[in-house]
Amino acid sequence: MRKSNYGFTVTTLGFLLFAAACKNGESLPVEVTFTEHVAPVIYNNCTICHRPGGGAHFSLITYADAKKFADAMAFVTKEKLMPPWPADPHYTEFKGQRIITDHDIALLAKWAKDGAHEGPIDKLPKLPAYPAGSLAGVPDLRIPVQPYLLPANSTDKFLLVKVPYELPRDTFASLVEFIPGPGKVVHHVNGDMVKYDFTKKKDVFAGARIVNMAEDTATLVKAFERLGLPNDDGSYPVLQKSVVNYLPGAEGQLYPPGLGGYFLPRKGAFLLNDLHYGFTNKDAIMDSSFINVFFSKTPPNRPVQEFQLGTLGVAKVEPDLVIQPDSIKHVSSHFTIGADISVLTVNPHMHLLGKSFKAYALKPNGDTIRLISIPRWDFNWQYFYTFKKMIKIPAHSTIVAEGIYDNTRQNLNNPFSPPQVVTDQSGSMKATDEMFQFIVTYLPYKEGDEQISL
Ligand code: HEC
Repeated sequence: MRKSNYGFTVTTLGFLLFAAACKNGESLPVEVTFTEHVAPVIYNNCTICHRPGGGAHFSLITYADAKKFADAMAFVTKEKLMPPWPADPHYTEFKGQRIITDHDIALLAKWAKDGAHEGPIDKLPKLPAYPAGSLAGVPDLRIPVQPYLLPANSTDKFLLVKVPYELPRDTFASLVEFIPGPGKVVHHVNGDMVKYDFTKKKDVFAGARIVNMAEDTATLVKAFERLGLPNDDGSYPVLQKSVVNYLPGAEGQLYPPGLGGYFLPRKGAFLLNDLHYGFTNKDAIMDSSFINVFFSKTPPNRPVQEFQLGTLGVAKVEPDLVIQPDSIKHVSSHFTIGADISVLTVNPHMHLLGKSFKAYALKPNGDTIRLISIPRWDFNWQYFYTFKKMIKIPAHSTIVAEGIYDNTRQNLNNPFSPPQVVTDQSGSMKATDEMFQFIVTYLPYKEGDEQISL
């Protein structure tokens, strides 16, 4: 029977069945099928990543694909693990937030429970279009990242990677995006841009392309030298932070005209200060990712700026980030801003012992401006969360970031068994050390910013 509960006339029995199947005031069909009910849910919420060429390692497009994962899909959606979106939507909402409704979760659960049937083929909806390569169009420049060989059964790798380029002349860019190789082994990327004064740097291609921070016990400064980042006279060029970040399913940061964008000097390099390859359990893979650059004719008239609270930031972690074994540790960081700002994105950052994170601003009059709450920290999904509209924070407000760490055995992500003392060793990026950071990207406030849709 494939009739929806809405089809029942109001007999007592029908009414009871209706009430029992009701969630959020919407009923579930008597029989949930793939083509009629499940495919629309998956195509809306999952296939941006779970498709060939998407960020996840398996596809959920066809009935045969999805059927294999029917129970797993029911589980991960009920537990709110998928779609991955650690921020609490009841605290603050963000652009492109990935939230699946309770009704859709119930559909996936009922489908699995009822035996994951296919349903009438002609009811299958059309798959959304996913252009190959970039979702933003055809890039003006495509710079290969040095290919990297991951051996079979490779463990996590955290690399520092230089991606140099040289252009005929200075120009501007509206968007820079990282496109992972087809092996789907790139877990995430945080990358900055190194901007050279071309008279001070002869060869941007000289030096190593990759430093593996874990194998190389070198300090960050030594690593920068090995990558050949300093100018020829030993001084350092300008670094623009967070120009190219990547997470599976996250698109490059393209702002409305007039906002954002970059000055792209004729000589430069992208510095992936953290290219994280996840573990592999199959054959060796040669990863060949690349960076897309979209030029722009206009200079960035309101270039995005950023500051960072916590480890290595403008405001320290309080108390010091020393986390004793078998303990829960609360820390915070406070930073008072001097002028009105318009916040574009926020990025909370902790490693494996993170348990929860919250950030807000306290206005001089005592009011609170909510920024973000992550009730259950997930090391794997550290987005740069973009607000739907810019958030104005007035001068002399204090931005507060609060984190809780769990260094007990109950934390399944604890990298040590038994637990050990863990600290934020001078900003080490190793996942087994800790960090507490809150990055805010912003513009100096201008009248009307709150109305601009991002
Ligand atoms: C933003 C990208 C993204 C979206 C959207 C997404 N997934 Fe995933 N999913 C992943 C990645 C990547 C993994 C691999 C594990 C990880 O890194 O968390 C994964 C893992 C899974 C797993 C676990 C498979 C296993 O190894 O046991 C299931 C099941 C799953 N996803 C189902 C879904 C469903 C159902 C949806 C939609 C409701 C969804 N995912 C949406 C990226 C995504």
